[in-house]
Amino acid sequence: MAGIFRDGLLTGKTAFITGGGSGINLRIAERFVDQGAKVGITGRKQERLDQAVAALKARGGEAMGVASDVRDYAALETAVRRTRESFGPIDIVICGAAGNFPSPAVGISANGFKAVVDIDLLGTFSTCRAAYEHLRKPGASIVSISATQAYIPTPLQAHVCAAKAGIDILTKTLALEWGAAGVRVNAISPGPVDDTEGMRRLTPSPEAKDKFCSTIPMRRYATKDEIADLALFLCSEAAGYITGAIYVCDGGQSLVGSGAFMGQLGM
Ligand code: COA
Repeated sequence: MAGIFRDGLLTGKTAFITGGGSGINLRIAERFVDQGAKVGITGRKQERLDQAVAALKARGGEAMGVASDVRDYAALETAVRRTRESFGPIDIVICGAAGNFPSPAVGISANGFKAVVDIDLLGTFSTCRAAYEHLRKPGASIVSISATQAYIPTPLQAHVCAAKAGIDILTKTLALEWGAAGVRVNAISPGPVDDTEGMRRLTPSPEAKDKFCSTIPMRRYATKDEIADLALFLCSEAAGYITGAIYVCDGGQSLVGSGAFMGQLGM
């Protein structure tokens, strides 16, 4: 399925996606190959990447997977370079790799906090930094996957809130610096997204999910397709003058704010 857009929107384009072996990022990869892009994905486990690449090829797309941890700059650089060598200059970068575990702040060690900041925030910077020299300029587009935790203080998420807030301001700063080169830099700020590792960790039982949904104005989680369609829009010519934007896609969750969480998520 090509989603809600016309076919071939990304024909001739190359995309590089971190965390592309699963979840939201894999759905974005699927959407991109369906629209004609060649896609390089990276993630920690080569086996998972191999499975994802096989699935992307089965859809008729061109895809490759090079394992790297976004915390290992040299490995990340190699993954970007190999994607460029195989598929040509990079038009689209999705900074999607993320780590999360729910814990009260007093249960997060300095190293646990650092692990999440290193994956989410530093990993996003490293991806943008490593990709920059390989981008097709002008015309390239970077989209980072942030989250509403960036501006809604969220219980059990002190590390993620700090890391995602950093991603939002990094996005705007890079948009300022790279605009003249014709590189657009935006972020997507999802609320809860169904069938993802992150939400399985935050609401592990059907009861917890129902309780959480009752606090969301639209009374449901987003689908991965809805996030993938937004990523496709932001990377398409339809968004050609959009840069430095943080696109919230949360069913109205952020309108309710932190108060909705009190009494939720075990607090
Ligand atoms: N509660 C408290 N601390 C935790 C924890 C939890 N549930 N899970 C991990 N940590 C701490 C560890 O204790 C360690 O700190 P320490 O050295 O002080 O003991 C630190 O976090 C790093 O843990 P480690 O397992 O070595 O890190 P990792 O690099 O292998 O894993 C994480 C990274 C922590 C983000 C892990 O949760 C992860 O890999 N998650 C998978 C991806 C994911 O979260 N996807 C969802 C994205 S929204």
